[in-house]
Amino acid sequence: MEATSVFISGSSGYIGSHFTKFFAKKGLRVFGLDRVASPPAVQSYLQDFLHTDLKNETLVKTFVKKHGIHHVIHCAALCLVGESVEKPDLYEENNVKSSDIFLRALLSCGLQSFIFSSTAATYGEPKFSPITEDHPQNPINPYGQTKLDFEKILIQSSQENGFSWGIMRYFNAAGADPEGELGENHDPETHLIPNACKAVLEMGPTLKIFGNDYQTRDGTCERDYIHVMDLADAHYRLLTSIQKGKQGGAYNLGLGVGYTVNEVVQEIERQTDKVVPKVYADRRPGDPSKLVASNAKAKNELGWTLNYSDLPTLVKTTLSWFKFI
Ligand code: UFG
Repeated sequence: MEATSVFISGSSGYIGSHFTKFFAKKGLRVFGLDRVASPPAVQSYLQDFLHTDLKNETLVKTFVKKHGIHHVIHCAALCLVGESVEKPDLYEENNVKSSDIFLRALLSCGLQSFIFSSTAATYGEPKFSPITEDHPQNPINPYGQTKLDFEKILIQSSQENGFSWGIMRYFNAAGADPEGELGENHDPETHLIPNACKAVLEMGPTLKIFGNDYQTRDGTCERDYIHVMDLADAHYRLLTSIQKGKQGGAYNLGLGVGYTVNEVVQEIERQTDKVVPKVYADRRPGDPSKLVASNAKAKNELGWTLNYSDLPTLVKTTLSWFKFI
């Protein structure tokens, strides 16, 4: 029997590139799409790559039909909370309208399953913690709102068209490929762990800690950091169970334990034996004080186990990646 083909949008990006490698190593035939060229380290894991925008219906249809692809993991998106507050229209255009056009193109090619990279930002300021999948979804930034809007489009479309869906709500994706081939390399970088690692390695500016007056144990924001390889594994498990007949569903993907910004910085200082250059700055608009997942559903239904998401491994793989590039 021929291996399953899976189409990963955003395959050149941080999360999509790690997924590409993970799925290829599991023996699947992986096809990628991105408007950014495929980096050589990613290309080697792809059967074929479509260098275009999600909105290019004609090219998407031709590519998907040519390769007989029926399973899709949709990672391509803009994903920065702060930027979304400044440019909400850009986020609406990229994360909702483009995703909708992409989904419609796939529907005309025999789509069987569609797994969507969603986010904990769809929940907003938590009413209770840890956050379960049935927690009310009231985003407090446009990024979270656009992801929630597409969740709704996806479920509606599945009801009308009969494909299986998965909605994966990532908490704070972090870490890098333990083999050192891939990592997080945004320009400009906005995420905490890479920014703090770059600051301590003298590869970036002094770390700004956004707010120290939150209602948390040390006043800095608390987040649930999840390793990108553990994220990939959850997607693999969902795809496998969909192929065995499961209908799909929504899953929170997090460790279930939160760390404050100061605690993350302390772990980096412990591993490097250096002080992270840092200053306290104003709160960043759109930041909830605390986001911690309940991952019980993913563990129980998908048999998900977390192998890399302890804070020391998250920091260690990120530091190794920055020492390598
Ligand atoms: N932070 C700093 N300084 C920095 C960068 C971040 O203090 O230079 C703080 C932020 O204010 C926040 C925490 O570190 O309190 C984490 O910030 P990140 O930018 O690393 O991540 P976010 O929590 O903003 O968002 C991430 C993803 C989103 C996702 C969210 C869900 O980028 O896509 O996690 O938890 F929705």
